[in-house]
Amino acid sequence: MAGTTEVVRLNVNGDTREVGVPTHYTLLETLRYVLALTGSKQGCDKGDCGACTVLLDGVPTLSCITPVWEAEGKSVTTVEGLAGPSGPHPLQDEFDLNGAAQCGFCTPGILCSAAALLERTGTPTRDEIKEALAGNLCRCTGYTKIYDAIEAAAERMSAAG
Ligand code: FES
Ligand code: FES
Repeated sequence: MAGTTEVVRLNVNGDTREVGVPTHYTLLETLRYVLALTGSKQGCDKGDCGACTVLLDGVPTLSCITPVWEAEGKSVTTVEGLAGPSGPHPLQDEFDLNGAAQCGFCTPGILCSAAALLERTGTPTRDEIKEALAGNLCRCTGYTKIYDAIEAAAERMSAAG
């Protein structure tokens, strides 16, 4: 029935949040319009562009096509949650240093996909990076600087142990 809401309990960026949401809401709509976490972008809103990518239990997930109830009981990480207590995630630093963002619309989703890759593989090859970002469209950069930034972040993280 239109207008029906449900209460969902989410763990977002380490915090437990219990919120009432319209039953038809996606995870992306809940993040942006209920929790005011607007880092995850609403691009195509139909699973084609990757701008809405977040991590669900560490796995890159298109939040625009994920019903919010599917995130219950899982750990949700958005771009707002990538930084640690000591500062930005190395990926965020290297995107900055390498000029890997232009308009920036794709960047939050790409950072999430890349963060998951670096959790799996400390020293990814360029082909592995390309594969990890296959679902993230960028209209601006031509990708080369994005790949450079991810490789630099991987090196930095490996050096830090
Ligand atoms: S906004 Fe989700 S894939 Fe484009
Ligand atoms: S920086 Fe503009 S879409 Fe990627």
